[in-house]
Amino acid sequence: MIKFGGVDRIYDAYSWRITRRAKEVWRSGDVVSTSHTEGSWLDKFEKSVAKFTKRKYGVAVGSGTDALYFSLRVKGIGPGSNVLCPAVSYLATAEAIKRTGATITFVDVDRKGLIANLPATILPDALVYVNLFGNLADYDRLRQYCDKHKIPLIEDAAQSLGSFYKKIPSGKLGDISSLSFAPSKPLPCFGNGGMVLTDDIEEAKFIRSLRYHGKGTGKLEHGYNSCLSNDHANVLNFLLSKYKSLLSRSKKVRQWYTKKLNDIGISSIESSSDTTSNNHKLVIRAQDRDGLKAFLDTKKIQTQIHYPQPMSRMKMFDTGQEMPNAEKLCQDVISLPIHPFLKKDEVLHVCDSIKEYYGV
Ligand SMILES: Cc1ncc(COP(=O)(O)O)c(C=O)c1O
Repeated sequence: MIKFGGVDRIYDAYSWRITRRAKEVWRSGDVVSTSHTEGSWLDKFEKSVAKFTKRKYGVAVGSGTDALYFSLRVKGIGPGSNVLCPAVSYLATAEAIKRTGATITFVDVDRKGLIANLPATILPDALVYVNLFGNLADYDRLRQYCDKHKIPLIEDAAQSLGSFYKKIPSGKLGDISSLSFAPSKPLPCFGNGGMVLTDDIEEAKFIRSLRYHGKGTGKLEHGYNSCLSNDHANVLNFLLSKYKSLLSRSKKVRQWYTKKLNDIGISSIESSSDTTSNNHKLVIRAQDRDGLKAFLDTKKIQTQIHYPQPMSRMKMFDTGQEMPNAEKLCQDVISLPIHPFLKKDEVLHVCDSIKEYYGV
């Protein structure tokens, strides 16, 4: 079986060091820090990610969904706000916006699934964008749009830690940015986790308060229980120290794929030339995508569809907007296994199986 994700192999590669990091926390009894403490495991991890993304502050929270929700809240988004959002992403993106009580206006995507055609006629209160599959959207254009409308640009960087836009790291490409450390994400946690990245100390304090029952700032009636536990923080901090090597392994895997897929006339969705992708996902647009998926199942190759339908179509967000590019993308795409520890013979087996399916 060629599994889609590789978190188990990441564990195997570093098992005793990961276990030692987790045990260290469990033995201390200090598993969850509910207030910000200098020098704690959580604090060290927050500082490491902030340094990696060239941010002043990182505030770790319970999930990427919460990280995005808290980012919106700290930017004043709530009932009565109108937030622009790409039509294609994991549903958590739109869900976080909806949770604030704001109205969502979806924006159609380009052929890579990245936010395109920003509306000229409506007056939004914020723009949320996603670096889908680890590929970076056109930040300069988004920044210009947000500056013109004087609205915050909010980067959902759940899939793009380690990607760069003209040498600017993802995580820095928004007035505020959010990350996810779910097991399927580029920097995975053995559980759930997320982080808000900001350069504003007041915003950092507000989110530290939001993540633990509204304590601390005195500005909130209530907050949430959304702390990243210290065992996850300690393990994640170790994995972050290995992250450059993990990224270069994924890059190598992508190169094997590219060469082999090119031979059979298939290209994957790539990042544009002035950006560097973290190679989080290997997505191809395929004829008879569902047939291919079923065939690869018989070859014991796990694949996924990112995503089966645009968020603008989902019942819970349906705005009745037409999103032709998003619809087409969702009909065509299929994601092939990719992770730092995928082996060359596994990549060849996936590509040979695709070749066999199409008879080329
Ligand atoms: C683009 C995007 N945003 C947000 C999230 C939510 O992250 P989490 O699963 O950590 O809540 C995800 C996770 O799949 C995602 O892919």
